[in-house]
Amino acid sequence: MGQDRIAMIGIFDSGVGGLTVVKELRQRLPHASFIYLGDNARTPYGNRSQEIIRQYSAEDVDFLISKGATAIVVACNTASALAGDYLKEKYDLPIFEVITPAAEAAAKGSAGRVGVIGTRGTIGSGAYEKAIKNFKQSAEVFSQACPLLVPLAEENWFSRAETKMIIRSYLQPLKVKSIDTLILGCTHYPLLKKNIQAKIGNRIKLVDPAEEVINKLVEYLASQPNGTSEQIMEFYATDPAARFKEIGEGWLKEKITLKKAGF
Ligand code: DGL
Repeated sequence: MGQDRIAMIGIFDSGVGGLTVVKELRQRLPHASFIYLGDNARTPYGNRSQEIIRQYSAEDVDFLISKGATAIVVACNTASALAGDYLKEKYDLPIFEVITPAAEAAAKGSAGRVGVIGTRGTIGSGAYEKAIKNFKQSAEVFSQACPLLVPLAEENWFSRAETKMIIRSYLQPLKVKSIDTLILGCTHYPLLKKNIQAKIGNRIKLVDPAEEVINKLVEYLASQPNGTSEQIMEFYATDPAARFKEIGEGWLKEKITLKKAGF
């Protein structure tokens, strides 16, 4: 008699940022088994070409499959934007990227004026705009690349005066467009949520792609057989540097053992 195979969620990101998705997963599904891969040796993905993002993302997925993943979460907004469809076509297992669920939540909750912030790659791809319009044809979408926010979040400069100033200047062009909803389209931005909300105004609805993708994962897992195996939580990095572990433990508020992903 075979035991039901427990779902093993493989989560990848260009680096440490996807741990915001792991954090959400830990809160919503504390007993879920997962393997995390941060491709920090090749980070950032945010300024790279589509060809390279697709190649790196496929290598990340191959690694997670080799470790036993039965479903994949593309935590990285840039990888979701530039390689999400490609991965869905290439692989047989379920692929959950962040763009579609975040676009759906934004379209459904918005009166029609949606702002999107993200890396240059994500914004340049137009993926959010396209996905939002799939859910709400009449929506107007205003986008802004905010490349300086990733290093600020990694330095934990969440409420420094410099960070507030930079956020204000990035959000100003969206503010004048009278958006009613704003998608935090990068793994790191939910860490700056308070600050972003303060600058954009309390009436603007913020959409966190990490929350939205985990909602979809929760629905999917509810349809899967319950396994009985012991919980597995593994963290890999392509460069298991001390700083990765330090940042990760600070964000997750739990200890992690970081192993080297060799591929
Ligand atoms: N993880 C990336 C994203 O969500 C941000 C960091 C990077 O540029 O690699 O778009």
